[in-house]
Amino acid sequence: MKNSKHVLYTVIGALFALSASQAFAATTLKLSHNQNRDHAVHKAMIQFADEVKEKTDGEIRIRIYPDAQLGNQRESMELMQNGALDIVKSNAAELEAFSPAYSAFNLPYLFRDKAHYQKILSHEIGKEILSSSQNSGFIGLTYYDAGSRGFYAKKPIRTPDDLKDLKIRVQPSPSAISMVKALGGNPTPLAYGELYTALQQGVIDAAENNIPSFTLSRHSEVAKFFSLDEHTMIPDVLLISTKSLNKLTNEQQAIVKKAALNSSKYMTQLWETSENEERAKAEKQNVKFIAVDKVTFQEAVKPMYDDIAKTNPELSKMVDRIRTIE
Ligand code: GCU
Repeated sequence: MKNSKHVLYTVIGALFALSASQAFAATTLKLSHNQNRDHAVHKAMIQFADEVKEKTDGEIRIRIYPDAQLGNQRESMELMQNGALDIVKSNAAELEAFSPAYSAFNLPYLFRDKAHYQKILSHEIGKEILSSSQNSGFIGLTYYDAGSRGFYAKKPIRTPDDLKDLKIRVQPSPSAISMVKALGGNPTPLAYGELYTALQQGVIDAAENNIPSFTLSRHSEVAKFFSLDEHTMIPDVLLISTKSLNKLTNEQQAIVKKAALNSSKYMTQLWETSENEERAKAEKQNVKFIAVDKVTFQEAVKPMYDDIAKTNPELSKMVDRIRTIE
């Protein structure tokens, strides 16, 4: 009896020691992003976190902070550079200021169609762009499809003339600023989270985004005309601090990378449904979707490409490479 009690205590002791050592070994990575919990990208990142937890037997956990709780996209990327955050979901527009290779994604009408854009994301070029920020202290793990963007306002935008002199919110991306200038508008960089109030109060006349972000951020309550001009296709990007990544074992790093790619595939499925559902929702809120003649927009932004050819050989090479990919 004494002996079996002894065995029992030893087993309980060992179990305590084991769970204590597991708790000690568990690493929690903080992930920040600026969309709400209903956005498809949040759901894709939940799958990412679940897969990482499962495949590492709970050694790596990812805690997701949505709604820009820990800072807007720029602030989050800076916090990641300072070591206060491990993972950030940003997008190629915001990344332009951190790594110029992302500029290509922000050029209007560079991609022939959706298939061309998606090809670039998985192509060697796409991978080069993801690793281009290495010297800034982070790398891209994967892209998340974020569809195409259109202008929206309180009045219909049918041609670039309708944008003339409007105060148009853009992301803090030099290419977005040049694009709106080329179209005759007045570009105003602003963080995503500040846009609802700015539109509502009339500080901003127009903005541009994909349809799910337009409705889920409630901009559809205040801007009732959405133009299907599809001027850009700008992917979201999941970034990880190189310091945080290097703290993981090789096996854990491989799990994180694979889970990110899997969540990107899941996002592609979620995206199409989300675009359809959110468009239907906007229509119920009396938003009018306007089909436009894209040629007038394409003509207006042509000088941007002439300018790049003259002043930015790196970007110009990238543009040529992207165009030749079938
Ligand atoms: C998209 C994108 C976000 C970005 C936002 C914006 O919704 O997914 O990452 O912040 O556009 O316009 O700021």
